[in-house]
Amino acid sequence: MSILREEVVACRSGGSSGRCDVLATIANARYEDGAPIAVDHAVDELVTLLVGGHETTANSLAWVLCHVLPRPDLLDQLEQERARVFPGGEIDPARASELALLEACILETMRRTPIAPAVNRNLLKPLSLDPWLIPAGGIVFPSTYVTHHRQDLWDRPRDFVPQRFLDKEGVPPDRFYPFGGGRRTCIGNAFAIFEMRIVLLALLGELSLVRTTTSLEAEFRALTSVPKSCDVIASNKARAA
Ligand code: HEM
Repeated sequence: MSILREEVVACRSGGSSGRCDVLATIANARYEDGAPIAVDHAVDELVTLLVGGHETTANSLAWVLCHVLPRPDLLDQLEQERARVFPGGEIDPARASELALLEACILETMRRTPIAPAVNRNLLKPLSLDPWLIPAGGIVFPSTYVTHHRQDLWDRPRDFVPQRFLDKEGVPPDRFYPFGGGRRTCIGNAFAIFEMRIVLLALLGELSLVRTTTSLEAEFRALTSVPKSCDVIASNKARAA
């Protein structure tokens, strides 16, 4: 927090000329009446972005690698998809959404190992969940993890089957909600998927990655679930060729 505060103050006292990064943009933001944003408020916004936007995406990416790296069949298919969409080899981020299998791997990862295994709601009015009636003021935790593994909703729920997300109809939001739902749904949803596609394209395209364990054991770091062990040996594809 103190480092962020120092950065915001330094940025506002003249160190931001020509900068268009997130820190400088928030540090120099103004309220609707034109007054500069309070330093504490700028720091709060940055902390929200760091906690909500960094750990979540980084940990989801770690989970994607855990699922995909032990699957040579999947890695081959991803390579073929990449070659089909970017035949010249150069990546155009604007076309990354055409990588349907890559996106399906991301979604299947968030189904099988959601980094937020539950989302909480404070009830403003009573909730009837037959046979229970939960009074206003109660707290309910819809569990992403449990819903994503229900035998009655998913075929082979414990298996990693990205193909189930290739169906363009999509999955109903009450069956799949890694980003939460309703009015408080994650504001970074689309950005996170975009970011993950780009990072995975770079990682899988440039590096040969070998995971030295197949464990899917999870542990909690801050608020999110992370792989307990995701040891990966990396070598540069270009150098190896
Ligand atoms: C894979 C990446 C991500 C996952 C899995 C994720 C997941 C979630 C979940 C489960 C919630 C709670 C939603 C609810 O209660 O219904 C949430 C809220 C939020 N997320 Fe994300 N998130 C991700 C990336 C991001 C990114 C990249 C940003 C910002 C750039 C972000 C910003 C936020 C914010 C500000 C909220 C609070 C929204 C509110 O309460 O109105 N998240 N996220």
